[in-house]
Amino acid sequence: MIELQHTTKTHDESRQGEALDMLPTGKSTGRKLYIESYGCQMNFSDSEIVASILLDNGFETTKDYKEADVVFINTCSIRENAEQRVRNRLKEFESAKAKNPGLVVGVLGCMAERLKSKFLEEEKLVDVVVGPDAYRDLPNLIDKVDDGNKAVNVLLSREETYADISPVRLNSNGISAFISIMRGCDNMCSFCVVPFTRGRERSRDCHSIVKEAQDLFNSGYREVTLLGQNVDSYKYTKPVAEGETEGQMVNFAQLLAMVAEVSPELRVRFSTSHPKDITDEVLYTMSRYENICKYIHLPVQSGSSRVLELMNRTYDREWYMDRVNAIRRIIPTCGISTDVITGFCTETEEEHQETLSMMDYVKYDFAYMFAYSERPGTLAAKRYEDDVLEEVKKRRLTEVVNKQQEHSLYRLQSFVGNVQKVLIEGFSKRSDHDYCGRNDQNTMVVFPVDKRFKPGEYVHVLAERCTSATLIGKIVD
Ligand code: SAH
Ligand code: SF4
Ligand code: F3S
Repeated sequence: MIELQHTTKTHDESRQGEALDMLPTGKSTGRKLYIESYGCQMNFSDSEIVASILLDNGFETTKDYKEADVVFINTCSIRENAEQRVRNRLKEFESAKAKNPGLVVGVLGCMAERLKSKFLEEEKLVDVVVGPDAYRDLPNLIDKVDDGNKAVNVLLSREETYADISPVRLNSNGISAFISIMRGCDNMCSFCVVPFTRGRERSRDCHSIVKEAQDLFNSGYREVTLLGQNVDSYKYTKPVAEGETEGQMVNFAQLLAMVAEVSPELRVRFSTSHPKDITDEVLYTMSRYENICKYIHLPVQSGSSRVLELMNRTYDREWYMDRVNAIRRIIPTCGISTDVITGFCTETEEEHQETLSMMDYVKYDFAYMFAYSERPGTLAAKRYEDDVLEEVKKRRLTEVVNKQQEHSLYRLQSFVGNVQKVLIEGFSKRSDHDYCGRNDQNTMVVFPVDKRFKPGEYVHVLAERCTSATLIGKIVD
């Protein structure tokens, strides 16, 4: 399948399979953990929670699975090829297990939740299967495996948010970090496996979120991205205070403001916004705070109202356009990105054209584009036939990808000649003579190193030209 993926940081393909490296925080057992992660940014964040739990239990981490005592793979089920990638990777661990029969191999995350104990039958080398809400149980499950058993915990929870666990920031640039503000999803988009693998939606205590942002700021971080499958439905009720009859409710707009107040020097981003839930209050909050980045990931999925209804997205084409109009009205400089699925069940050629015309209407800055992949157990798999031929799905995907390339270039070119405020993230991937960082709209900007400025500082960069995904320029005073 062709999957064109722009690398913003919420779906960074270049990080798929990345491993982590840290020393124990608890009493050392001398045992080494290797963990690699697939899927969305929430999964990467979860791996930092898992590492934190095991470091507290005396483990250290390693970047080389061949020297590990415990190998964990944090998995994704979103499309069939995501699962295939994990199965291929498990095959590569077989030789390590053959050399070291005491090696513990664990499958974590969404695939673990979807397949449960079936995993143990299907993949003989797997010893432990752990769903996304059961990570606190990991030390206990590893003990069980050490005693010669296989271990499974795939219980989903209505409360678990890991609010009290401070994630270890591994493989971090020390400048941008992700903060999970909620878990699970209560929507039932008919194509999507997430509600089944991640369970019910729950919001994390707002104070623990603000504290995490403050702690990050104090240790030098300058950008946080608040993460949830549907951040606009964030809702946390504070415990009842003295003299009050009920606890005060905090919504997403209010949470955004609380995090933005940590410091004007801390950039705040968030993902993902659901078109049905994003409110004008959120947009006005964004416009009120200079440090809330003017960038919204607003997945459309399809431009056809009939397909959107089959997808159970609970908005139609007009509603989506109205939300885009509201963004353009309230935050004229806002960047907008999206997700698109081509070839969903029964999608006609005309309906596909409606997706293309929606893209023309919005001219997205970025898009993640996928051919529909039927997932077992979802509403669509139960109700509708996956009847669009594979080659048609792919041809439509190519058309969507080509259109997006035009629009990305259009957006990039519109920045050329303008001065961008950029947070320096570090040296560019290609050269130590260049710095890289993002502008407000999340576009990568590359410019020559100027010794007066360090990573973590803000600079103004005149964009002089662009490639297909990057602005190139120079620092101006
Ligand atoms: N919570 C986010 C989406 C998370 S999944 C939202 O509601 O927008 C990320 C993206 O993967 C989705 O937006 C969708 O475009 C894509 N996706 C999900 N299930 C899929 C499937 N079965 N086939 C193809 N793409 C899928
Ligand atoms: Fe999946 Fe829809 Fe929930 Fe997003 S909002 S995670 S697409 S069910
Ligand atoms: Fe994320 Fe994949 Fe699970 S996208 S929530 S890791 S199915």
